[in-house]
Amino acid sequence: MTVGVPKEVKDHEARVGVVPSGVTALREAGHRVLVQTHAGEGSAITDDEYRAAGATIVLSAKDVWAESEMVVKVKEPERSEFQYLRPGLILFTYLHLAPMPELTSAMLESRTTGVAYETIVEKDGSLPLLTPMSEVAGRMSVQIGAQYLEAQNGGRGMLLSGIPGVAPANVVILGGGVVGTNAAKIALGMGAHVTVIDRNLQRLRELDDVFNGQVVTLASNVWTIGETLKLADLVVGAVLIPGASAPKLVRRAMISQMKRGAVMVDVAIDQGGCFETSKPTTHTDPIYFVDGVLHYCVANMPAAVPHTSTFGLTNATFPYVLELANKGLERACEEHYGLRQGVNTFGGYVTYRGVAESQGREFREFAMVPAAGSSAVR
Ligand SMILES: NC(=O)c1ccc[n+]([C@@H]2O[C@H](COP(=O)([O-])OP(=O)(O)OC[C@H]3O[C@@H](n4cnc5c(N)ncnc54)[C@H](O)[C@@H]3O)[C@@H](O)[C@H]2O)c1
Repeated sequence: MTVGVPKEVKDHEARVGVVPSGVTALREAGHRVLVQTHAGEGSAITDDEYRAAGATIVLSAKDVWAESEMVVKVKEPERSEFQYLRPGLILFTYLHLAPMPELTSAMLESRTTGVAYETIVEKDGSLPLLTPMSEVAGRMSVQIGAQYLEAQNGGRGMLLSGIPGVAPANVVILGGGVVGTNAAKIALGMGAHVTVIDRNLQRLRELDDVFNGQVVTLASNVWTIGETLKLADLVVGAVLIPGASAPKLVRRAMISQMKRGAVMVDVAIDQGGCFETSKPTTHTDPIYFVDGVLHYCVANMPAAVPHTSTFGLTNATFPYVLELANKGLERACEEHYGLRQGVNTFGGYVTYRGVAESQGREFREFAMVPAAGSSAVR
């Protein structure tokens, strides 16, 4: 198979879909890899590194798309890339089609096969291609929080660790999943006093074990959250209810009872945020204040660390890339339940129920759509 890796065109997106180690593995499996020139630059990977790994460097995006049977990207196609979509092309990337009817139409009209990172679900219910970005955002949340607690950045002028004779900061983490656990790990490592609040008691038991009793674990309810926030210096919002908007755990009135200059990092902002006072911000203009409490609500935190994010993402995506290249879409999906869940568009139909429902479009089981020009896929 010829696998193409274009340079991302979305604003501020510096990640890339395949790294040199992936190129070598694809080459060794007998595939050809086309990488657009400068595709890895934002993640500190040079054309020479790709070349040394066995890639062919291609000057234009148009040629990468036109010559590839499968294109591996990071973000959904921008409008300027719609022209490259075509029948039978496999596009493997984060697609997030549900809120994007225009992109969905472009995928369907061109009969492009869209395999979305975010809907790949393994049998244990895990979302393997979302986990690495949660790990990045969770670890970053405390690093960012520590930075904004400094006085010149608007915070209350506090060192997360304290010093001998001066108490450390109180870090309160709402949600003890992937983001929350990674935030707790960094906060503990920096010497903070850490509290994790979750509604899942089993999860709290696991955290108590993992951190050997060094984090305070609390069951989630309105009263506990309100009381805990009064003492917080840094709050990390990390709750998720799969498939739904984030619950607004922090009410407006709780903010006014918090310390001036405390810092709130709402990582869950990509699902609407878990503070009533949250609104999405950008890396260019990341913070604002409510009642003197600093809010940081950047929806794409991992974009700030593209090198780490690219390697974290591709560690997770690459086994699927190789499987698709080795077996082709139909056999790979037939043999791999998780991958099959990723197919969002195929043969001009929406094949992911959530996308069809959110846009009022016809849904077809992937297995029921006749394959382009051949027999039905089972
Ligand atoms: N801003 C970014 O750049 C960025 C990056 C990655 C992930 N995220 C987002 O971060 C959020 C968390 O992701 P995750 O991977 O950690 O999810 P996760 O499913 O691993 O963890 C979510 C946790 O929230 C807990 N929870 C649910 N309802 C709760 C409640 N009412 N009170 C307390 N806890 C509750 C769950 O029990 C679970 O432990 C998601 O919205 C995700 O999309 C954002």
